[in-house]
Amino acid sequence: MMSHDQASNLRKRMNRLTTTRQTKTIAVVSGKGGVGKSNFTLNFALSLAGQGKAVLIVDLDIGMGNIDILLGLQANTTIVEMFDKQLPIHDIIEHGPHSINYIAAGSGLSDLFSLDEAKFNYFIDQFETVSSEYDYVFFDMGAGASDESLLFILAADECIVVTTPEPTAMMDAYGMMKHIHQRNASLPFYLLVNRVENAKEGQQIIQRLQKVSERFLAKTLHVLGMIPFDKKVSRAVIKQIPFSMFDTRSPATRAINQIAMKYVSNQTDKNDNDKSPSSFITKLKRLLKER
Ligand SMILES: Nc1ncnc2c1ncn2[C@@H]1O[C@H](COP(=O)(O)OP(=O)(O)O)[C@@H](O)[C@H]1O
Ligand SMILES: [Mg+2]
Repeated sequence: MMSHDQASNLRKRMNRLTTTRQTKTIAVVSGKGGVGKSNFTLNFALSLAGQGKAVLIVDLDIGMGNIDILLGLQANTTIVEMFDKQLPIHDIIEHGPHSINYIAAGSGLSDLFSLDEAKFNYFIDQFETVSSEYDYVFFDMGAGASDESLLFILAADECIVVTTPEPTAMMDAYGMMKHIHQRNASLPFYLLVNRVENAKEGQQIIQRLQKVSERFLAKTLHVLGMIPFDKKVSRAVIKQIPFSMFDTRSPATRAINQIAMKYVSNQTDKNDNDKSPSSFITKLKRLLKER
């Protein structure tokens, strides 16, 4: 007789085998720090999970990662430890609320990405074994981009650029977009404006960034949406509860749910089934060779 645990493990493995998903990898970036990338990533992921999507967040802000802190959870292991101890990736995937999964960043390495090629290949092989279990894999990046973390951004299917209405954040967001665009002109950019006073202000920021992007990069910026300034967000951070769970009806929560609904329905419309599920891995391998 199989034990309950064995049966449940077997079921999980079967599910993995039968549901190979069209995984989408998404890098969440900004020029300036503190604009709300991690809060956005976590709550967007939770909202997608609420729509039945399988989501993994990889915290790549090594040394300053905080997805586990925002969740009020203590990660057992981290991505840094995966490299140090050659752990299988399944051992470092932590489980959050609403069945979202995450990999904590950890610290100890000033730069995860200054790794030698063998270690990088180890990561790629490990990542390949799990990526098809998810509909969406988010990379929550640190501010700016070191050369190696840039590889993850360049290999991703999409890039979400987060800014606030502050001119400094906008300038840095533009600088970041330019930096990425010069290296991969076909990567789609989705703009998210966080902490807006009102919809009018948000629209102005979107239009301004769209204009400079079209004029100087000859690139169309997709609009992901805007999230209002909401004091419940910082209260939720203090309580270590994701803001969309802290208050399910606050302005920021409503906004993020609306953005996630629209995002999913746009993708179903597009119906991009011809996309290879392993394009991220393929691109990352190629970028590594060119390094
Ligand atoms: N929509 C918002 N309204 C109010 N405060 C916000 C909002 N989004 C983020 N914040 C504040 O900004 C801080 C930094 O957010 P965080 O997600 O950690 O930024 P990043 O990951 O870009 O460094 C949060 O701790 C929170 O206090
Ligand atoms: Mg962050």
